Amino acid sequence: MCGIFAYLNYRVPRTRKEILTTLLKGLQRLEYRGYDSAGVAVDGSGKTDNGDICLFKKKGKVKALDEEIYKNDAVDLDAELDTHFGIAHTRWATHGEPSAVNSHPQRSDKNNEFVVIHNGIITNYKELKKYLNSKGYEFESDTDTEVIPKLIKYLYDNRENDNVSLSTLVERVIQQLEGAFALVFKSVHFPGEAVATRRGSPLLIGVRSQYELSREEIPIQYKCSERRGDLEEKNLRNRSDSTTALHSVHDRKAMEFYFASDASAIIEHTNKVIYLEDDDIAAVAGGKLSLHRMTRSAGEDSVRVIQTLQMELQQIMKGNFKAFMQKEIFEQPESVVNTMRGRICFETNAVVLGGLKDHLKEIKRCRRLIIIGCGTSFHAGLATRQILEELTELPVMVELASDFLDRITPVFRDDVCFFISQSGETADSLMALRYCKDRGALTVGVTNTVGSSISRETDCGVHINAGPEIGVASTKAYTSQFVALVMFGLMMSEDRLSLQKRRLEIIGGLRVLPELIKEVLALDDKIKFIADELYQQKSLLVMGRGYNYATCLEGALKIKEITYMHSEGILAGELKHGPLALIDHHMPVIMIIMRDACYTKCQNALQQVTARQGRPIILCCQDDTEITQNAYKSIELPHTVDCLQGILSVIPLQLMSFHLAVLRGYDVDCPRNLAKSVTVE
Ligand code: F6R
Repeated sequence: MCGIFAYLNYRVPRTRKEILTTLLKGLQRLEYRGYDSAGVAVDGSGKTDNGDICLFKKKGKVKALDEEIYKNDAVDLDAELDTHFGIAHTRWATHGEPSAVNSHPQRSDKNNEFVVIHNGIITNYKELKKYLNSKGYEFESDTDTEVIPKLIKYLYDNRENDNVSLSTLVERVIQQLEGAFALVFKSVHFPGEAVATRRGSPLLIGVRSQYELSREEIPIQYKCSERRGDLEEKNLRNRSDSTTALHSVHDRKAMEFYFASDASAIIEHTNKVIYLEDDDIAAVAGGKLSLHRMTRSAGEDSVRVIQTLQMELQQIMKGNFKAFMQKEIFEQPESVVNTMRGRICFETNAVVLGGLKDHLKEIKRCRRLIIIGCGTSFHAGLATRQILEELTELPVMVELASDFLDRITPVFRDDVCFFISQSGETADSLMALRYCKDRGALTVGVTNTVGSSISRETDCGVHINAGPEIGVASTKAYTSQFVALVMFGLMMSEDRLSLQKRRLEIIGGLRVLPELIKEVLALDDKIKFIADELYQQKSLLVMGRGYNYATCLEGALKIKEITYMHSEGILAGELKHGPLALIDHHMPVIMIIMRDACYTKCQNALQQVTARQGRPIILCCQDDTEITQNAYKSIELPHTVDCLQGILSVIPLQLMSFHLAVLRGYDVDCPRNLAKSVTVE
């Protein structure tokens, strides 16, 4: 949902070409967050940075921007800039259609005095726009973001103190903003300076120095200030600029700073990062990084720690695969191992999730478990509800975050609320988390992103360790979320005598899971063959029940999001209550029929489909001739414990959606209108 990237080199000479290459590469790493337009801002265009800011913006993907920049020799690429700050953005449109003028950086005026990149939504932009219009500021785009550069210019134009710093101006700007934002500012009035801030959208800063960093943490400067109020009355008042007192990471030596929406854009430059918290303002001036906030709340950390990223560059490269999604599907034998690593002891059958163990007693005493997520993460909750009910002996609700909030669902102090999120930044899930926290429930995060908002704001949690997921369609995160939730059930049932047999069966299933996943992946050619027959169809139904109902929903979601075919996941038990009307000789239908407690009922559904001349493609257990003889086509899967079968049966659907999308000629990793990490409501 929009990717922000910015790069500041301080006393590190770089040609303009190197700077642009760094910015564009950073954007490419973030492209999965949005890809309908992109833009960059760098200093000057000639041999020197002659004080002006040069903007390039283009509708389309980063590649189109890249071509635009190099097309017409608009800048002197060989000019060497000793200190320079460049900002870049890849957009997923929320306000205003994808176009060059609506892409970021957004600017204050035709002279580009202030330029800004933004991820999020400013909900009070209409009010601010009206105010700024009344002051004579003219708008050129349809974006909500444009109020920000206009507002900072307004505050600058009306300053009463010539010593006002960029960070003070930014501080005043964000006092007026409502909504969610991660912002990076650049200005001709503050050359070589960067200011970044966030509220509700992620932002981190990478720090690279040729010297050892002199600090492991950066202290925060606090400054009590007026509350948000009338723009004219309060923000124009002259204030002392004490906030710019700086705390250096290193003392005025050569430094490079990277600002990004996520770590994947930074890791190739440095593994030292600082995650900003809501309302932190980070400023780099004279090569020094300082952090400040308006006020300090009780219990709040007064430092931001410089963390070391564990991610490897190789993890975010496509390798020999055609698409990240394909790579991530094929990573699943390893990603599930990484989810289990150090948590299950197959010798003693002990399962310990370190992030939850101190809260286990409290969880066991709770009234109910509420699992909350969106899209694929919601499906992971649905897929494991039955086994969690069995192993925890607690009522389990599974909720879509947006609907949960719309209903103002009652939540109590003795509820335990799980937030499932690959990115850990999904706005709906984050809002639901804050809602549950406000009501005193214990909150548990299940995320794939260390340092994400959900992992930081929950009381405790599990990191699924699936490795970076770049493809917009979530695949390996789903199977790892699934495994993590099953492990939670196993941990909860450790001391229940009556459940030991079941636990051992499941742990045995988890032990061989990676090998079984490999067997399923070996069916890829067969699945491609079936996709060849299906790819020109308009619709595709996916039907199943019990443990595999969630698989149907997840498979249908994968198909619709990357192939743009209409696809519906249908609970087989509901077939006769409506969907059966869709069945005829032409409608492609995939049925999941596994040897579990729903087997006979699924066979009934199969009869109902074949009786209407339907031609089912059936996912079933190996050697199930009873089923295969009624199938138009079958995909035979290795058998595992009923509650884990969904991990195996979802993989052919992931592969099917991938092949269908390729055959239909679509960009698998960048489906239209979608973006990874949905940081707006
Ligand atoms: C579908 C998909 C989305 C996400 C959803 C939640 O393939 O990726 O449905 O699952 O947007 O995202 P996270 O898990 O990051 O909260």
